[in-house]
Amino acid sequence: MSKLEKALEMAQQARGEDSPASETTKETTPVTPAPQKTQAEDTPKVKTACAARPGHIEPVYTQTRVTPADKAVLEKHGILTTDCPEIIIEQYNLLRVKIETAMKENDARSIMVCSPGPKEGKTITAINLAISIARETSRTVLLVDADMRKPAIHKYMGIEAEAGLFEHLTKGTPLNELLINPGIPRLTILTAGTPSDYPADLLGSPAMHDFVTDIKNRYPERLVIFDSPPLNLFSDGLYLARYADTALMVVRSCKSKEEELDKAMEEISHTNLLGIALNRVPARYCPSYDYRGY
Ligand SMILES: Nc1ncnc2c1ncn2[C@@H]1O[C@H](COP(=O)(O)OP(=O)(O)OP(=O)(O)O)[C@@H](O)[C@H]1O
Ligand SMILES: [Mg+2]
Repeated sequence: MSKLEKALEMAQQARGEDSPASETTKETTPVTPAPQKTQAEDTPKVKTACAARPGHIEPVYTQTRVTPADKAVLEKHGILTTDCPEIIIEQYNLLRVKIETAMKENDARSIMVCSPGPKEGKTITAINLAISIARETSRTVLLVDADMRKPAIHKYMGIEAEAGLFEHLTKGTPLNELLINPGIPRLTILTAGTPSDYPADLLGSPAMHDFVTDIKNRYPERLVIFDSPPLNLFSDGLYLARYADTALMVVRSCKSKEEELDKAMEEISHTNLLGIALNRVPARYCPSYDYRGY
């Protein structure tokens, strides 16, 4: 049985089970989570549709900070823009429809994007999946940078962000002061905030539990995507796997090793793994690559 077949079989088995700003300012001591205040997340007021487009959601960002992402930075980092080649947009559309279908079948509201090792494409995939889903008009997306060791979402989008998840979990900073709309309708981002050397303490804290419960349940049409650190290097991802309804494993084509993938799959074997995204596949292997006229 090939690695992929084995992975898919494990994913299918798992689906049947219960699922449960400045890089220089690193923490040098373990942090103790602050007691959480009751917080009203002040995310966009959501207008539902005009009669002509039932289900259409047009957020009005009254208090969420709107900080348009820098298009040149997006393009430099391979983030989806309207000018992306069709072949790339289409790959993320395929991922979107597969993920959305699987999440619907599993009645899931959240997904963690993970990988066995570093640099496999978790962050790029999480951002592009979020943008792709937000482009639909029937859902909103909250993208959370839960890689508190090496936050990258704000960098890849060219957004200044000094405070984020770390400040929410440790100081109780309200979400409405932290959420950012990057100029893309229906997408909000919670950056990681101050990088931490001890994120597992935070990710396993009651504050994290309360945070995830809140964001998953506040808006029924909202999907939450977590970016995460490498599963085989740190325990952080295992804490996240407790909270995320589902997971997507990203592996880098021609680079990730089978035993590393096996280990990562084993680590999150109790999580509802929806599938594996093979990243950095040369374009010539894409089915539509040679399809002239498209
Ligand atoms: N499909 C892709 N095509 C081209 N480059 C890519 C692709 N996916 C990722 N990269 C590049 O690979 C590098 C690592 O990507 P990314 O940061 O998304 O990986 P990661 O798994 O989140 O890494 P880390 O473990 O450090 O958080 C980046 O420079 C990114 O631009
Ligand atoms: Mg990353």
